[in-house]
Amino acid sequence: MFFRTLFRTAVVTALLSLAAASGQEPKLINGYEPKWWKEAVVYQIYPRSFKDSNGDGIGDLPGITSKLDYLQKLGINVIWLSPHFDSPNADNGYDIRDYRKVMKEFGDMADFDTLLAGIKQRRMRLIIDLVVNHTSDEHKWFVESRKSKDNPYRDFYIWQPGHTAPDGTRTPPNNYPSYFSGSAWTLDPKSNEYYLHYFATKQPDLNWADPKVREEVFSLMRFWLDKGVSGFRMDVIPLISKPTGLPDLTPEQLKTPPNAYANGPHLAEYLQEMNRDVLSKYDDMSVGEATGTTLAQTNNLVDDRRHELNMIFNFDAIKLGRSDFGLSQLGAWSLPELKGIYDAHATVLTKHDWDTVFLSNHDNPRIVSTFGDDSPAMRVASAKLFETMILTLPGTPFLYEGDELGMTDFPFKTLADYDDIAVKNAYKALVDTGKISASAFLASQAKVSRDNARTPMQWDSTPQAGFTTGNHPWLAVNPNYKQINAAQEESDPASVLNYMRALIALRAHTLAFVYGDFEDLDPQHPHIFAYTRTLGSEKYLIVENFSSNPLAYTLPNGLKAANLLLSDIPGSHEANVSTLNLAPWESRIYKQ
Ligand code: GLC
Ligand code: CA
Repeated sequence: MFFRTLFRTAVVTALLSLAAASGQEPKLINGYEPKWWKEAVVYQIYPRSFKDSNGDGIGDLPGITSKLDYLQKLGINVIWLSPHFDSPNADNGYDIRDYRKVMKEFGDMADFDTLLAGIKQRRMRLIIDLVVNHTSDEHKWFVESRKSKDNPYRDFYIWQPGHTAPDGTRTPPNNYPSYFSGSAWTLDPKSNEYYLHYFATKQPDLNWADPKVREEVFSLMRFWLDKGVSGFRMDVIPLISKPTGLPDLTPEQLKTPPNAYANGPHLAEYLQEMNRDVLSKYDDMSVGEATGTTLAQTNNLVDDRRHELNMIFNFDAIKLGRSDFGLSQLGAWSLPELKGIYDAHATVLTKHDWDTVFLSNHDNPRIVSTFGDDSPAMRVASAKLFETMILTLPGTPFLYEGDELGMTDFPFKTLADYDDIAVKNAYKALVDTGKISASAFLASQAKVSRDNARTPMQWDSTPQAGFTTGNHPWLAVNPNYKQINAAQEESDPASVLNYMRALIALRAHTLAFVYGDFEDLDPQHPHIFAYTRTLGSEKYLIVENFSSNPLAYTLPNGLKAANLLLSDIPGSHEANVSTLNLAPWESRIYKQ
């Protein structure tokens, strides 16, 4: 099936280039221009946590290479690798010291080349993380920049004198808060000026207004594309153009600083330049992490007539009830709200835009614990339901390592259980200053912390879940690894893993899930998400029971569910019916 998809994509692409060469319009599918990245299923790997090959407790590139057969069998087409570059790891690689070197804990360039060759050999592709809003403060550009006001690299970063009170007290240039607590400005004693860092003090923001910065970034992009990577996930990309004049945020803006920081006046210009000089020269894909970007602003970034990005991650669904800034609480959410988000996407985005669909990544807690029911009786069914939804809604689906096993949140108790700088900084800012009690802070963090997603992959039931042969993984393994692991799921036909394989295979030969129109049949129902995907004469019906109770659901408008293709509950068999007797968290896919 997999090869059939590839073959079909290759044929479509070949036809398109013929059409382009002869000056004809490309052949559209339901109004969409066909692209390999629209048809792909992407799988994110957080290298530190995926597989350790040498027993030092840190996942690495040879570890990933050793699991490529597993990924191929899962059926995914593209791997997104979180940063693998040389880094002092203030923010686990999102602080880059050298963009052309591999992080030594992960291996070296030969290991990268072996990994990439292994991916290509299996007819998959690799995209890497482009983190260019900021660098590490140990990057040579910043080391130079901070030396003196007249250093040639001074303008690579954003420096300002700030304010000096009559008594000599210094205060930052403005009231910008950092994503990781405290001010977004740090006074550097060497030149006695402040530098801007939206994230940690060790992550100074690059000054994209300097054309030399842009040329350096474009050159490192070419370096990796020429090596054979197929594109980039672009870290916090809407932040690269800073607000004109950097004025104080108003009290209203302080409620959601990312919206004030993002989509600055020169963003389109920078992205169009990047597209013209780099991206358009390769058969690549680009997906921007769109912090601070509303759905209404999305067309500005992804409309294919603008030549900027292919897609963005919009956080409306994943952050439902929470915020995109600082430390959020786990908020209440309802199914009509979640459906409303997907319905709005389908309305606002046009055939020139393309969406992503995801509920997980390395910055968010586990899907099944956050949106589903991770109790032993419901975990498997609810994990399957969310994957069914993600793989059948419009947009390119992005999965995160461990989703395919239904991995859960970690039982965090004390501050020492965490690694994340976001948690450590917030503890200092909130608990050490007496603003919140330690117990309240720790209780809310356990549910939202990014470290929930970063605990090691659970491969088997041997000590440390088969992640490392050593005794000291960099972050503790979830104690539930004896029940939840890939080896156990491999041998269980009813496992999340085996269901995911079937689901991904079904999507791979069903273009309606890619290019088909979407219709939500019952937006207000509190527990059921029922929708269709239609491509020409082909129609699919998807029905999902978002509750831990069985439910009899009668389809609206006299509709009948025809042929059952897949259910996440083994033994489910109802077909040609208008009332469906759904088990808790059951999801079904019908061909109409
Ligand atoms: C993005 C990354 C996150 C990182 C931040 C700063 O949000 O996903 O992990 O901490 O950018 O680079
Ligand atoms: Ca290792």
